[in-house]
Amino acid sequence: TEPPKPLMVKTEPEPEVDDGKKKVSIFYGTQTGTAEGFAKALAEEAKVRYEKASFKVIDLDDYAADDEEYEEKLKKETLTFFFLATYGDGEPTDNAARFYKWFMEGKERGDWLKNLHYGVFGLGNRQYEHFNRIAKVVDDTIAEQGGKRLIPVGLGDDDQCIEDDFAAWRELLWPELDQLLQDEDGTTVATPYTAAVLEYRVVFHDSPDASLLDKSFSKSNGHAVHDAQHPCRANVAVRRELHTPASDRSCTHLEFDISGTGLVYETGDHVGVYCENLIEVVEEAEMLLGLSPDTFFSIHTDKEDGTPLSGSSLPPPFPPCTLRRALTQYADLLSSPKKSSLLALAAHCSDPSEADRLRHLASPSGKDEYAQWVVASQRSLLEVMAEFPSAKPPIGAFFAGVAPRLQPRYYSISSSPRMAPSRIHVTCALVFEKTPVGRIHKGVCSTWMKNAVPLDESRDCSWAPIFVRQSNFKLPADTKVPVLMIGPGTGLAPFRGFLQERLALKEAGAELGPAILFFGCRNRQMDYIYEDELNNFVETGALSELIVAFSREGPKKEYVQHKMMEKASDIWNMISQEGYIYVCGDAKGMARDVHRTLHTIVQEQGSLDSSKTESMVKNLQMNGRYLRDVW
Ligand code: 2AM
Repeated sequence: TEPPKPLMVKTEPEPEVDDGKKKVSIFYGTQTGTAEGFAKALAEEAKVRYEKASFKVIDLDDYAADDEEYEEKLKKETLTFFFLATYGDGEPTDNAARFYKWFMEGKERGDWLKNLHYGVFGLGNRQYEHFNRIAKVVDDTIAEQGGKRLIPVGLGDDDQCIEDDFAAWRELLWPELDQLLQDEDGTTVATPYTAAVLEYRVVFHDSPDASLLDKSFSKSNGHAVHDAQHPCRANVAVRRELHTPASDRSCTHLEFDISGTGLVYETGDHVGVYCENLIEVVEEAEMLLGLSPDTFFSIHTDKEDGTPLSGSSLPPPFPPCTLRRALTQYADLLSSPKKSSLLALAAHCSDPSEADRLRHLASPSGKDEYAQWVVASQRSLLEVMAEFPSAKPPIGAFFAGVAPRLQPRYYSISSSPRMAPSRIHVTCALVFEKTPVGRIHKGVCSTWMKNAVPLDESRDCSWAPIFVRQSNFKLPADTKVPVLMIGPGTGLAPFRGFLQERLALKEAGAELGPAILFFGCRNRQMDYIYEDELNNFVETGALSELIVAFSREGPKKEYVQHKMMEKASDIWNMISQEGYIYVCGDAKGMARDVHRTLHTIVQEQGSLDSSKTESMVKNLQMNGRYLRDVW
């Protein structure tokens, strides 16, 4: 067996050269590539505007190998920009986590950044509680440590149009940069800048040479690192429906077989899954592109002579494959297109009126129409392409600028390695909803999981490239500490893992403290998932008390937070005994409401005023005793 090959090839960092130019570092903390794209777009335009400076785009993880190096290198910077996304419960992206932790721990460094001019642009979503938290905190902290803020922190909102937010921030930035980077004689900005339309160089192969075939998903022998760039192939061992036939929704229990892959996980971790588009979706894309599914090709970011193509913001290429494979595996076809995708489509319309209309939608004057016709209507890329039939982007343009890469989906693992060392269990609700224009939107990964063929049904079973992402959502090290778990719906997932772990610990002789689980679903007859297992956890003593809120059984809705109020004094007792509180599930509704309820309980039971309540809950959070895994 061989170690896994990278799914995407990372470009090598450029070597340092002292060309006498002022050096500008543009850092990014990215999860889906948007922050990285913005960082590169800024660099590209800045290069054209300021010939006396050189701009380098840097992945925060690649910048330094350890804390000392972060400090040493950052000390030497004089002008930097940060593009930082905020994820989950107000957390940094994976590639910014190490930097963020180090930077936040060093609040006592004084004004060591006083030679630094800087700007921060954040990527977040206003629907979430901790909107752009990471960008705001980094922006404030740099200022506290002496840095000179060139421009107010940009607060990109993905709920609206984050591309517009970035464009507006960038327009504010240029006058500031002019002051720092303009030529001595006062002349700046030579060439007016227009963003290049991105396109890979494409090589077509008549008959696929075996050496080109994608081997990247071979199982590995256990020594390599597996991450988003290096997933490994895992078979689907088990799949079953968790809802009863009486339910009009669906929830899948899936088990990935990780034996022999080298993948390891801990209870509470997440699994990243690269899923595939449905064949019907892929066929529609083939038809709209007017290209044969068998076309075998490779994409390249360099010219034939090996020099890089202009426009360094191309996403890393994927391995050579057929068009059908590329559309199945790498193209996000069902999300609403960004404005940059509309512009890339416009560049390949044979009908000029279609090109004009696409450019209008992407322009400032088409802002409202874009918000309505594309975003609010949830029109997919394919639906938009169908409305502009003359747009026929070639392969190199389609994968570079029109269709974003299909991103891995993350799930809270619903098993414990103590119970299932060679399996990763996933509990996944099916996304299946009617959009405002009447399309049935089928979630890419949840649909794939629902349709997956498990090994216990066929030797030719489904598989997916997967990897594990560590989390800090962990049971207390001391098994005697009380545990309070709140997880309605698929928010139950990590707690099933927790309970498996507690049961295994108990069987191994550990003494367990009390554990209460608040679960919620609509109706006992329909969506009470894992009911038998939960009862079994109570019988075996892994769980002291199971409390279920059924929201659609009685005349009025009953939610987990209502049940929490009924148990207020028990909850207060657990908190007083150094207990841990865990919440998992929907961030926008449930976790927010549960958070308020927790405040109420602390305030009432502890007879505290609101500021003392506030600081007590904050302290629980800071001490890692109130943990949330929310989405
Ligand atoms: P509902 O669908 O009847 O509104 C799992 O999805 C359970 O969480 C369902 O019973 C759902 O109820 C419930 N739920 C929906 N919104 C919630 C909220 N804001 N707080 C707590 N539970 C909620």
